[in-house]
Amino acid sequence: MLAGRRIILGITGGVAAFKSAYLARRFVEAGALVRTIMTRSATEFLGPQTLAAITGTPPAFEYFGEDEVSPHTEMAAWADAIVIAPATAATLSRLAAGASDDLLVGTVLAFSGPVLVAPAMHTAMWEHPAPRRNVAALESDGVHIVGPATGALAGGDEGPGRMAEPEEIMAALGLVLGAGTMAGWRVLVTAGGTREPIDPVRYVGNRSSGKMGNAIAVEAADRGADVVLVTTMAAPSHSRIRAIGVETADEMAAAVWEEAAKADVAVLAAAVADFRPAHPRESKVRRADGIPDLELTNTPDILAGVAALQPRPFLVGFAAETGAATGAAAKAIAKDVDLLVANDVTAAGSGFGTETNAVAVFGRDGAFEEWPTMSKAAVAARLWDRIVALRSP
Ligand SMILES: Cc1cc2nc3c(=O)[nH]c(=O)nc-3n(C[C@H](O)[C@H](O)[C@H](O)COP(=O)(O)O)c2cc1C
Repeated sequence: MLAGRRIILGITGGVAAFKSAYLARRFVEAGALVRTIMTRSATEFLGPQTLAAITGTPPAFEYFGEDEVSPHTEMAAWADAIVIAPATAATLSRLAAGASDDLLVGTVLAFSGPVLVAPAMHTAMWEHPAPRRNVAALESDGVHIVGPATGALAGGDEGPGRMAEPEEIMAALGLVLGAGTMAGWRVLVTAGGTREPIDPVRYVGNRSSGKMGNAIAVEAADRGADVVLVTTMAAPSHSRIRAIGVETADEMAAAVWEEAAKADVAVLAAAVADFRPAHPRESKVRRADGIPDLELTNTPDILAGVAALQPRPFLVGFAAETGAATGAAAKAIAKDVDLLVANDVTAAGSGFGTETNAVAVFGRDGAFEEWPTMSKAAVAARLWDRIVALRSP
């Protein structure tokens, strides 16, 4: 959704600025390129160094004294979107009036793309007619307003005026930038590699890190879907992701088959063992006992179980290949999936544990597209774009 997008995050002088650091990190995690502009008051609430460390670029503050001769026009020409979070009453007023006497408002005025503003202030300020009048004026100028929400405020008070949560701002930005909304979609994702016990200490496992599945889950949640993530690894924290921790293929199958019946889309990105020890020992196998025979037996075919459901969700399978994904086309047809994502786990920059992935995506008819190596967040975004397009009438 945000992969490769260039976002300017404007931060103004409210207590909610502490959440802006997290918002910047979420943008970066989603694959966006992020630059920040802080008002002078904002620096009272959040350290510029924090933003520099998160985004890789120091914040800009002023028209004069920055490296750029004309920072407002340079930044406006660079950006795909501007997000101001939190937006104080003072900044709302300057924005509504077009008072470009600070770099942030000047950049907004020089920018012709989408602007998203998240007001935040104490309820007593929000209930004054001035900020509401300014928000209405901004809306009529085409600015997108997110929030404010009602809830706990700094100082122990409660009421309307609280900044929208970073995840809500992410979802709103995705919509503004044209990513299809997935609000109301029920999505099931699996991630990680299963571990099949040999004894209480040892297991047969694989190298899956869960990063690809996590990126797919986060992208769907950011687009507004309600996501169930069945995983053997640590799950990302997100208000719209419910994680179910499992370890073995049997446990994953039980969780997936139960949840898939309730899902609109199932993306099975986990690396599930095809075989497991037939008779896991109850106590540790000792060296002194000699080399044990390791009889293996099949694990359940989770993908086939979901494909057989009536009605079944839109089904996306993943195939880890070693070498060219030649077997994947046949697998896409044989497994009766709607999409099959094949990746060569032995290629550089692709597969287990890497931050990037190079995949080929096969349709039901075996036709396929090879995607270039890109971040796992970007693969996730492109995959959801494809799924949304295929599922929409
Ligand atoms: C502790 C403290 C918290 C503040 N929180 C807010 C706030 O949440 N929202 C707001 O509109 N103003 C808040 N203000 C007032 C702004 O910091 C002040 O209006 C400032 O001039 C805003 O400048 P800026 O919009 O250029 O950042 C706060 C001030 C203080 C001292």
